[in-house]
Amino acid sequence: MHPCFARFQNLAEFPHRAHAVDQALIDFHQNKTSSVIKGRNVIAGYVRGWGLQFNIIRSFVQQDPIYIESLKLVEGIHLTHEVSLMNIFLIMKYGLPASCGDIIEFGSYRGGSAIFIANVAKKLGITGTVYALDTFTGLPAADPTLDFLTSNDFKNASFESLSERISKLGLTNLIPIKGPFQETTSNLLKYSQKILLSYLDCKTYESTHYALSTVLPHMHAQGGYLLLHDPIHSNGLGPLQAMEEMIEAHQLYAEQAYPHMVYRYPKL
Ligand SMILES: C[S@@+](CC[C@H](N)C(=O)[O-])C[C@H]1O[C@@H](n2cnc3c(N)ncnc32)[C@H](O)[C@@H]1O
Repeated sequence: MHPCFARFQNLAEFPHRAHAVDQALIDFHQNKTSSVIKGRNVIAGYVRGWGLQFNIIRSFVQQDPIYIESLKLVEGIHLTHEVSLMNIFLIMKYGLPASCGDIIEFGSYRGGSAIFIANVAKKLGITGTVYALDTFTGLPAADPTLDFLTSNDFKNASFESLSERISKLGLTNLIPIKGPFQETTSNLLKYSQKILLSYLDCKTYESTHYALSTVLPHMHAQGGYLLLHDPIHSNGLGPLQAMEEMIEAHQLYAEQAYPHMVYRYPKL
C-alpha cells in the first residue's frame, strides 16, 4: 500500500479522528512538491480514488454535514453514482484553487448533479457560478455507428421544473442554460470566470469532443479539474474516443481513473 495511507489507519476509531483525516486530505492536496508527476497530483488521486473504492474515507465523507445535506436535495433525481458525487465533493472541498472561478456541467438532465454541486459550492463558500448546460429536451443527434445512446434518450427533462426547483432551494449560484452546447457554450465562456471544474456527463462523441475543445482554453490557470463520467462506462465508447483524442493532442495524464476520469488542465 502507498505510504500515504499510513495517515488513514485506525479509522475504526472514526469519527474521533475526523480532524486527522481532514488534515491529511488538506496536506495531500496542498503539498505538491513530491507528488506532482507529469502534470497531475498523483497522491491526491490515490487518496481520493483508492480511499473511496476501498472504503477508507467513505465514512468520513458520508458524515460530513455539507455532503449529507447536498445529497438529500437530489435524492431521486441524480443519475451520477453516489461514489462519483463523493469524489466531486472531495475535489471541491480540498482540491480547488483558492482563487475565484466558475464551475460548468455539460449534461445536467434533471439537475441532480448540478444541484448537488451548487449546494456544496454555496456551503463551502466557493463564490463562483455553477452553469448547468443541457438541451433539457433529450440527447441531440448521436452517431449511430459509434454512440450507444440515441436522441430518444433523456427526453423527460424539463428546464422549467429545474428552474423552479432551483429557485425554491434558493440556489442563486446555479444557472441552467438551455440549448445544444454548440449554441450556448462559446458565448457563456466569454463572460464566465475561468473554469475551476468542468464535469462532462453527456454520452456522445460529438458532445464530449465539442465540450472538451471549447472548455480547455478557459480552464483555471492553476490546473482546473476536468471530470469525465462516461469514458469508463460500458456504453461510453464515443466519449472515450473524444477523451483519447484530447489526451493525444495535449499529452495529458490522468489524476484518477476511479470513480471517473480526472485530468488537470493546464498541467500542474
Ligand atoms: C446522463 S444525462 C446527465 C445526468 C446528470 N449529470 C445527473 O447526474 O443527474 C446526459 C445529458 O446530456 C445532455 N446532452 C448531451 N449532449 C448534449 C449537447 N450537445 N447539448 C446539450 N445537452 C446535451 C442530454 O440532453 C442529457 O440530458
